Amino acid sequence: MAKRRRLFLLLVLCLLAGSRIAAADTNPQDAAALKSLMKKWSNVPASWRQKSNDPCGEKWDGIACDNTSRVTSLNLFGMNMRGTLGDDIGSLTELRVLDLSSNRDLGGPLTPAIGKLIQLKNLALIGCSFSGTIPSELGNLAQLEFFGLNSNKFTGTIPPSLGKLSKVKWLDLADNNLIGRLPNSRDNGAGLDQLLIAEHFHLNQNGLEGPIPEYMFNSNMRLKHILLDRNRFSGSIPASIGVLTKLEVLRLNDNSFTDQVPDMKNLTILHVLMLSNNKLRGPMPNLTGMNGLQNVDLSNNSFTSSGVPTWFTDLPNLITLTMQSVAISGKLPQKLFSLPNLQHVILNDNQLNDTLDMGNNISKELGLVDIRNNKITSLTVYSSLDSKILKLEGNPLCSGSLLSGTMLCTDRLTEHPPVPSSFDVQCANPFVETMVFRSPSFADVIKYLPELHKNLSTTLSSCTPNKLGLVPYSEGTYLNVDIRACPVNSKRFNYSQVLNCFNLTLQTYKPPETFGPYYVHAHPYPFHDKASRAVLIGVVTGSVLLVVGLALIGVYAARQKKRAQKLVSINNPFASWGSTEEDIGEAPKLKSARCFTLEELRLSTNDFREINAIGAGGYGTVYRGKLMDGQLIAIKRSKKGSMQGGLEFKTEIELLSRVHHKNLVGLVGFCFEKGERMLVYEFISNGTLSEALYGIKGVQLDWSRRLKIALDSARGLAYLHDHANPPIIHRDVKSTNILLDAKMTAKVADFGLSLLVSDSEEGELCTNVKGTLGYLDPEYYMTQQLTAKSDVYSFGVVLIELIVAKPPIHDKKYIIREVKTALDMEDSMYCGLKDVMDPVLRKMGDIPGFPRFLKMALQCVEEVGPDRPSMNNIVREIEMIMQDNGLTPDSMSASSSFSVDSTAKKFVPRYPYSNMSTSSTTFEMNSRAFEYSGGFPSQGSLKNRNSTS
Ligand SMILES: *[C@@H]1O[C@H](CO)[C@@H](O)[C@H](O)[C@H]1NC(C)=O
Ligand SMILES: *[C@@H]1O[C@H](CO)[C@@H](O)[C@H](O)[C@H]1NC(C)=O
Ligand SMILES: *[C@@H]1O[C@H](CO)[C@@H](O)[C@H](O)[C@H]1NC(C)=O
Ligand SMILES: *[C@@H]1O[C@H](CO)[C@@H](O)[C@H](O)[C@H]1NC(C)=O
Ligand SMILES: *[C@@H]1O[C@H](CO)[C@@H](O)[C@H](O)[C@H]1NC(C)=O
Repeated sequence: MAKRRRLFLLLVLCLLAGSRIAAADTNPQDAAALKSLMKKWSNVPASWRQKSNDPCGEKWDGIACDNTSRVTSLNLFGMNMRGTLGDDIGSLTELRVLDLSSNRDLGGPLTPAIGKLIQLKNLALIGCSFSGTIPSELGNLAQLEFFGLNSNKFTGTIPPSLGKLSKVKWLDLADNNLIGRLPNSRDNGAGLDQLLIAEHFHLNQNGLEGPIPEYMFNSNMRLKHILLDRNRFSGSIPASIGVLTKLEVLRLNDNSFTDQVPDMKNLTILHVLMLSNNKLRGPMPNLTGMNGLQNVDLSNNSFTSSGVPTWFTDLPNLITLTMQSVAISGKLPQKLFSLPNLQHVILNDNQLNDTLDMGNNISKELGLVDIRNNKITSLTVYSSLDSKILKLEGNPLCSGSLLSGTMLCTDRLTEHPPVPSSFDVQCANPFVETMVFRSPSFADVIKYLPELHKNLSTTLSSCTPNKLGLVPYSEGTYLNVDIRACPVNSKRFNYSQVLNCFNLTLQTYKPPETFGPYYVHAHPYPFHDKASRAVLIGVVTGSVLLVVGLALIGVYAARQKKRAQKLVSINNPFASWGSTEEDIGEAPKLKSARCFTLEELRLSTNDFREINAIGAGGYGTVYRGKLMDGQLIAIKRSKKGSMQGGLEFKTEIELLSRVHHKNLVGLVGFCFEKGERMLVYEFISNGTLSEALYGIKGVQLDWSRRLKIALDSARGLAYLHDHANPPIIHRDVKSTNILLDAKMTAKVADFGLSLLVSDSEEGELCTNVKGTLGYLDPEYYMTQQLTAKSDVYSFGVVLIELIVAKPPIHDKKYIIREVKTALDMEDSMYCGLKDVMDPVLRKMGDIPGFPRFLKMALQCVEEVGPDRPSMNNIVREIEMIMQDNGLTPDSMSASSSFSVDSTAKKFVPRYPYSNMSTSSTTFEMNSRAFEYSGGFPSQGSLKNRNSTS
């Protein structure tokens, strides 16, 4: 053993010294080139290190050779390699395949020497970190068929010489930082218009610009997929696109295209047409006859206002129709909703009017009909209609009718539950790679997933029989599906298995057609146990070990320093703040928030795996994570391009890093990197109050717990109102924003909407009304004057929820009105309240202090702010209710982090029977009725009607 080690050491030292050992079999030029390349790479496959100097003969992983021992294939996809690609690559002149994809830390400028590989057919450097310009020498690769440089950091313009790649079928430069115009042969001598057999132009997600000339496309081209979305193209859409009759996917969305949409009638097999978020004008395009269309999105353009286009009912294969804010008016035809494959119809912010009658023959696939903010005045309802499907908020029929307050009229889209991962698999060392589908035809993957699973399982069956998991999730505008493969009869996959099984980069695998174009990136795979890896490094070379050791010490020291600084952010993480339009104002001022790297958070959540998702909403997803030091965290990851913009992100960081209270969820840090916005909170283990009250958890909260939760959250809010400097109005108090920790201590969360109350007297602010329906203060809603009393109203709704254990708006009813009505009914008060009260609570029988609590809750939801108590008074009142009833919550005396403002008037409840509840254990409500009037803490608001008669 020791001998062997010494041998290795010797060998490696020789290599390091640069001496070249003649290859036994492999062409010496190729062998030398590979060894030289290897010097610039860490984490090459073990066989490269262990075997000596004959890559072909000894079958190094990732190498293939021909019968003359020339190297023809270099495939090191997904090896976690770090380093740069040296000029020596140019010596491998017989290379046909060069695939170094999914090595995230492999990068630097791309060497022009690649241009010497004139036999190369497949060049894939996908998902690495290559930077600088694309060398024009790549135009010499006359045999090239597959050209994938997407998801790197390339800058500069597209070299016109790429027009000489006359055999290229697949051209993918997406997701880089390329700028400038598309090169064409007329203006630039050579250009993309010469790529006559190319089927794929994937140039999305760059900074490409300028008009696209008519002569960019011609009828000799064979293009199937044109992805130009998310660039800065301007001018009109070239009419020559209309001659590309083989076209299946056309994505031009998120550019600045202007003028009229050209005639595309001949594109009869086009599946996906995305023109949204441009500046297109003129008449609404007529898509009649384009019968292949499955997914159409023309949203947010400036078309001439029109009636409902006739083609709405003419496209037999439609799956997804999205037409937001395109000025269409009139009545929606029933026939649209009976198209057999239809899943999502998104028509919000138009002028649709008249009655909405979807008919009785609604597509079984239909999952969402979003018609918010139109002019619909009435609705014909059939029993088959599910309110989860239809969204009508902002239509005349929602105001003042029976429908207001129903699910149909709430402003939030149904939060899609995480996709059930029925196809997921679990094992210690799964190989994970993400397929990014850039243009699926559907919005809801559920129906299509089984087919993909079957299809992929077959393709990969030789490596992972019956052990393939699929986990779909959406990221930004694209659909991601994680392929998770478990090894059979072994602990982990080895290098050659990964290289031979999962190399989907070269597009040899074809998914079902509705999934559209994709690319894959592999996640770093643990080829070794950490320990054995360390040994290996030790064996290889002492000097490397020294370097690594020093680095580790450095890292350790840095960590300690970070800790010592109490997580103060080290450098300015917001250097890039303000680089996008949404980022308003200066970088956040941070006190004690830590800046996490994207990588750290990826590691802590297992690459944002679906199983770590603990909540989802319009803003994005919340993940559970575990930091290296074992601390549990909750990560709120904003959707890319989500409405919750930079300002709200910043607000929340600034606020949270300033406030510290045991009843407020603490911010641990944040991440602002690569367009990601993430907030990292302490992990609160017992979920939200709403879950505890009426969620799936089945926790039964007894009365004293509920009082304690009310007290905790009131203290958190009182701190914000009265002790934070300047005071803070939360603006989104609701039961889903009150979290319960392991000890059932309540903590107020989510300050995304919060406002600072500086200077302005009385803390009155005029703002755009924001908040959550059901909790929104009606006074604030009407006057737009925001005060701390708006939070009090919302908190009152939460207090009523504690009694009723239902969402504030449910079954078309508003609990505040319901409770008030129940109490107003003179004779049947008990029955009334009994019906609305939480049965769990009712069964408990003993509800000490209930009348006082109820009274206080109702005063919180008084119509006008001044009639409502302050948060401080509420804290005092709950404390007294608890004390008077012999409930002494542990933390009551220990509330050192919070001191009640001594100048605040002592709150004296005027409830006439406040003594009663102290002594009697059961509150018999049926003997009394109450009338509510006046405010709080004003007097006599709760009167006994029937008295003691
Ligand atoms: C090597 O293989 C090629 C075809 O792949 C063949 O034409 C050639 O004769 C072979 N050379 C030798 C030395 O076997
Ligand atoms: C569509 O095809 C027909 C028949 O080939 C041709 O006459 C017509 O000009 C084409 N239209 C467009 C817009 O290219
Ligand atoms: C749309 O095109 C079809 C067929 O090309 C034609 O019959 C129809 O009248 C057009 N619709 C409108 C509104 O122009
Ligand atoms: C719907 O809107 C259109 C266009 O604005 C108008 O002509 C029509 O009268 C409206 N219909 C109803 C029922 O309001
Ligand atoms: C992966 O690579 C191996 C060998 O290089 C090849 O035989 C196999 O077909 C490839 N698989 C896919 C899906 O491309």
